[in-house]
Amino acid sequence: MSQFDTIIRHGTVVTASDTFVADVGIKDGRIEAIGKSLGTAAQTLDATGLLVLPGGVDAHCHLDQPTSDGSVCADDFYSGTLSAAHGGTTTVIPFACQQRGHTLTSAVDDYHRRAQDKAVIDYAFHLIVSDPTAQLIEHDLPMLIDKGYTSFKIYMTYDDMKLNDRQIVELLALARHHGAMAMIHAENSDLIAWLTETLLAKGLWNPRYHAASRPQVIEREATHRAISIAELADVPILIVHVSGGEAVEQIHWAQGRGLRIYAETCPQYIALTEDDLARPGFEGAKCICSPPPRHKDNQRLIWDGLANGVFQIVSSDHAPFKYASSTGKMLKGEQTPFNWVPNGMPGIETRLPILFSEGVVKGRISLNRFVELVSTNPAKMYGLHPRKGAVAVGSDADLVLFDPRVKRVIRNADLHHNVDYTPYEGLEVTGWPSTVLSRGQVVIDRGQFKGAAGQGQFLPCARPDMARPKVA
Ligand code: URP
Ligand code: ZN
Ligand code: ZN
Repeated sequence: MSQFDTIIRHGTVVTASDTFVADVGIKDGRIEAIGKSLGTAAQTLDATGLLVLPGGVDAHCHLDQPTSDGSVCADDFYSGTLSAAHGGTTTVIPFACQQRGHTLTSAVDDYHRRAQDKAVIDYAFHLIVSDPTAQLIEHDLPMLIDKGYTSFKIYMTYDDMKLNDRQIVELLALARHHGAMAMIHAENSDLIAWLTETLLAKGLWNPRYHAASRPQVIEREATHRAISIAELADVPILIVHVSGGEAVEQIHWAQGRGLRIYAETCPQYIALTEDDLARPGFEGAKCICSPPPRHKDNQRLIWDGLANGVFQIVSSDHAPFKYASSTGKMLKGEQTPFNWVPNGMPGIETRLPILFSEGVVKGRISLNRFVELVSTNPAKMYGLHPRKGAVAVGSDADLVLFDPRVKRVIRNADLHHNVDYTPYEGLEVTGWPSTVLSRGQVVIDRGQFKGAAGQGQFLPCARPDMARPKVA
């Protein structure tokens, strides 16, 4: 009998800290050995010329998430995870979102039903708290944290989700007490409302004015406020989808004061700009997300933050809404005012290729930093490491054989999500995943899907070390 189920031979293994040529032996879905001349296996994969990376962990994506405005999240757990796997991601963490007037536990139960029998890769859940009732604070949220839902998102904007500072500080105190990671969407809601009214009163409804309704000061102020609330509650937080240099400055300042403020950014803030919101006609709607992509000069500030450690993770914030659809970007037809266009864009499949191509190939970040940002740190941030995010003995054999030389032009027709566009149409990238393994099983074989709906498993998360308050 063979010693291993699979051996990946002659690849260059890349972790968050090291790069070395080795074979990887897999048994029962886990990495059993890393070394040279490992012995026999039922299956051998030749990784000559390829990088062997820990599978990507996309810690911010929206799949089959219910909405309250009539829009429909276009990807369910099948199409969303299929697309993720093709792009080299082997774990996703979407959001079980509490609707106001409903309990958080019912949101979690509902979300399990949506995921069941559909996911092709493993998944965990973040929670979204939009209605922090006494029952939620005293019972439901602590109970869910105990059961492995150890992170939750708080919104400072969006009328159906936003919490006030009092509610936020209470939730951060709870996160501290129970060891959870709080994620914060930092934008000032009242100022957005005022700017939006002012723009619409002048007839400025086109998608391009989305950027004008949410300038950097909106994000900077809310980021500073979130930091201040976290300082008061004495708890680490993660600021999600940071778009701009002004927010980066706040986070850098807080980190310099010794506060555990973590930050996430996304490919849209390094590969798109506010000019993309001004594409002809209604096309700018494809790039509406919040916070919006910024001026071109801003991209350098995001790259600086990625290189110097201000950012810990890069997520897709995949929020899939179809373009030419009355349940998508054209919610109110081809002249949908920017404030009615569903926020977010697809990107679950293109996250690794874009960051690799724009970052590693262009010399802005190292290969090890790339792995840290897309896989190892998100696994650590949410209590999944070292099961996920590592190429180490005992870790799940979630591995990507990544071709660092192949050139591709991103075309929506080649992607696997259920969206009728990609904001990156025509972007040339160098580097693409070739073969992807999930717990030792080949799910993508040189670009071909070999997995099955429902083979992805739910992952309860541990309390993350990164959520621990700093000990003096
Ligand atoms: O515009 C965005 N980012 N949409 C997705 C929802 C969110 O706030 O992350
Ligand atoms: Zn958000
Ligand atoms: Zn999001």
